[in-house]
Amino acid sequence: MKTGSRPVAAVARGISTPALMSMTAVAALAAVAVAALLVNISERKQEGKVTTARLVEVTQDTTDPAQWGVNWPRQYDAYKLTAQTTRTRFGGHGGSEALPQEKIDRDPWLKRMFLGYAFSIDYRDRRGHAYMLVDQENTQRQTKPQTGSCLHCHGSVIPLYRELGGGDVIKGFEATYKIPYKELSKKLHDMGHAQTVSCPDCHDASTMKLIVTRPAFLQGIERLANSGAATPFAPSIERWRAGGRATPYDPNTQATRNEMRTFVCAQCHIEYYCSSAMKLTAPWGKGTNVDQIEVFWNETKMPDGGRFFDYKQAETGAPILKAQHPEFELWSQGVHARSGVACADCHMPYARDGATKVSDHWVRSPLLNINRACQGCHRMSEKEIQARVDQIQQRNFDLMQRGGVAIDAMLDAIVQAKKDGASEQELAAALELQRKAQWRLDFIAAENSMGFHAPQEAARVLGEAIDYARQAELAALRRGAVPVVKAAQAQATASIVATVVAPAK
Ligand code: HEC
Ligand code: HEC
Ligand code: HEC
Ligand code: HEC
Ligand code: HEC
Repeated sequence: MKTGSRPVAAVARGISTPALMSMTAVAALAAVAVAALLVNISERKQEGKVTTARLVEVTQDTTDPAQWGVNWPRQYDAYKLTAQTTRTRFGGHGGSEALPQEKIDRDPWLKRMFLGYAFSIDYRDRRGHAYMLVDQENTQRQTKPQTGSCLHCHGSVIPLYRELGGGDVIKGFEATYKIPYKELSKKLHDMGHAQTVSCPDCHDASTMKLIVTRPAFLQGIERLANSGAATPFAPSIERWRAGGRATPYDPNTQATRNEMRTFVCAQCHIEYYCSSAMKLTAPWGKGTNVDQIEVFWNETKMPDGGRFFDYKQAETGAPILKAQHPEFELWSQGVHARSGVACADCHMPYARDGATKVSDHWVRSPLLNINRACQGCHRMSEKEIQARVDQIQQRNFDLMQRGGVAIDAMLDAIVQAKKDGASEQELAAALELQRKAQWRLDFIAAENSMGFHAPQEAARVLGEAIDYARQAELAALRRGAVPVVKAAQAQATASIVATVVAPAK
């Protein structure tokens, strides 16, 4: 499946952003400069206070990671390694170093689902953080006009937002969806902030404590706090609800350090709506599972009052919800989340460096690092841990492929019914069911852990996807004569939402 391999140097040569160039150039210098520096990093449990004799002053506007690297070389050195190729069975990327493999070629049903949308043109495997800006600039999806909102998760944008908002980051952010991508991207470059996710995106420059900076996340998590949804994965929200809600929920002051070890990643690894029609939105107003998000989107209206959708599937015209990398959302449904295991526990595990513990800033697949990522908690052999993950991922993969087969059959049936002259009304039920089926299959296909983050939940969602696809097929064959099934399903979904959503206190 995955072919080709070139050395890291070649990767770096292929990249043109100032971000990568400066990362490599200053690396050696920084390492030498700080050789004698004593970095005193407190232990894991001591509230993460980091006191360092600073050689260079950094602020929230210092987006150049090399500057921070002078003070914190260990983290910076590891951070730069995100430019390296990573490869596991389902993680990292296939294809060449120049370009990761197309997901839509590997799974033709994926491409078919996306017909009518830019994702059917170009949709590849993800890779390391060092590439996020260049990959966004170079995707063929840019052949369609894109919004400035795209930059929210692909660049170090906070100083840009601050300037656009006259000092107010949120105000600046809320102006960006109307600005075309190319215009905003040029401004980011001109201001000297064309960096991929950088130190000030996750750290307070004066204390080095973790912070969340992304406005769409801040607004989304506040929406979640205000909802009645149970949040066992975010205990500070439940405490805030019980505590009278005097001020709005703010993760930067109320979340625990452990929650922040997830929230910094949930600034980007989430489902969202992004277009020039409305501001970038994280859909957690009903909760974070697939059904709750679907209800949230169904209750959202486009600015013109029309029905909410991302695109119309070209073969059938069904108004589709496109799912995007819902890592945070799927994780939130799993046993690790319930047990307080954060993204950083697995993806940035501690490494001992002399007397200090350092969080591994080479953010990548934990399967490349099972010893530090898993064995601190799971006292079993590396081989056994790998085998358990393999089993989970293989089952998820197999079920997902069945989902693809069902989606193909559904689309064939609807297309045939249209050819045979079925009326819009006769196909209405089939198209509604298509929307539900595609939303669920895409949710798991777009999620990047191949089911690992919450295996049983992933299987439930895929099971529903297959069921809805087959119901849609039946509805097309029978030309809409399935009102009973439809009603039963609507009820089933309502009951799922009702059982998970506790009433607001
Ligand atoms: C208990 C450990 C664990 C936790 C907690 C966890 N992950 Fe993962 N994650 C994994 C494993 C295992 C994989 C599968 C990696 C593979 O297939 O190579 C994975 C895969 C991923 C991938 C794709 C990696 C790749 O190499 O392609 C991303 C992105 C990701 N996780 C993000 C997150 C985010 C964001 C969170 C928190 C919301 C999170 N993970 C929480 C273990 C974890
Ligand atoms: C500013 C947004 C942003 C933040 C914050 C962020 N990521 Fe990512 N992440 C991305 C993007 C974008 C990519 C894909 C880059 C590409 O393919 O060019 C990515 C890729 C990844 C990958 C794939 C790496 C590989 O080698 O294939 C993993 C794993 C990952 N992120 C985990 C995390 C974790 C864990 C956190 C929190 C510690 C986190 N990310 C924080 C945006 C972000
Ligand atoms: C809410 C955060 C967020 C926003 C907004 C966002 N992305 Fe991403 N993007 C990510 C993350 C996280 C990944 C890595 C995970 C993955 O590929 O599934 C990614 C991966 C990508 C990739 C590499 C994989 C692929 O899809 O081919 C491209 C290209 C990309 N994004 C382009 C865009 C464009 C264009 C927009 C605007 C329409 C956009 N992104 C908006 C978070 C975001
Ligand atoms: C995507 C978010 C993210 C980015 C970007 C990031 N860090 Fe971190 N950093 C973390 C997390 C998570 C921890 C663990 C904090 C904790 O446990 O309290 C951490 C911890 C640290 C610590 C404390 C010691 C340790 O290793 O645990 C230092 C110092 C640090 N980072 C420096 C940096 C520097 C320098 C950069 C830029 C080159 C950077 N970080 C970029 C998320 C990030
Ligand atoms: C900080 C501790 C911690 C870390 C790190 C951790 N786990 Fe876990 N894991 C747990 C806990 C707690 C449970 C729930 C077990 C229980 O309560 O019986 C669990 C459950 C599991 C399960 C069974 C549940 C399921 O979701 O299928 C698997 C498999 C698993 N972990 C694999 C891994 C792998 C692989 C890694 C490394 C990528 C990892 N864990 C990292 C604490 C951890």
